[in-house]
Amino acid sequence: MSIPRVIILVGLMGTGKSTVARELAQHFGAECLDTDKIVETRAGKSVRAIFDEDGEDVFREHESQVLQQCLLSSGPVVVAGAGGVVVRKENRDAMKKASHDGIASVVWLHAPPEVLVQRTQKGAHRPLLDNDREGTLRKMAADRSSWYSEVADIVVDVSSRSPESVAALIVDALSVGDATSGGSNE
Ligand code: S3P
Repeated sequence: MSIPRVIILVGLMGTGKSTVARELAQHFGAECLDTDKIVETRAGKSVRAIFDEDGEDVFREHESQVLQQCLLSSGPVVVAGAGGVVVRKENRDAMKKASHDGIASVVWLHAPPEVLVQRTQKGAHRPLLDNDREGTLRKMAADRSSWYSEVADIVVDVSSRSPESVAALIVDALSVGDATSGGSNE
């Protein structure tokens, strides 16, 4: 089975992107990249410190540059994209172009905010969830769902699935070129 050079996982915080990316990378013998980790290395400080000291715009600029870098990988790579990677139009356009050019497949890990509230802690790298986690996740879902949908080649409902079964669904979907796997593209 031939896989795209780059597989990118997108979705809200708590959908399991990093864990599923590791599973997929292992399955395909691919490198596993995590945009937050690369941003931290580039900036020489944590995601939280970038938000606190430099502001969200600076973080988003790092994020865009890191996404571009990931899309230029010679591959094969599986990329855990951070939740906000779809916020900038330039990022969405870059992912859609890479997909159109056959370089990348974009997978949206989808779950409703009420599920994600249970799965997110006040994680060190999630300053946006420090206050009113549920309200913030609901607003992010409302704001971003159409963006995730816009870029996604494959949609997986992760609500009641383990990371292993999500990875297995993605492997199947990639091999048959399916658009949705056990989920709705809302
Ligand atoms: C963010 C998601 C986080 C991190 C930052 C902002 C977002 O990554 O990049 O806190 O805007 O959704 P994860 O999706 O890996 O938690």
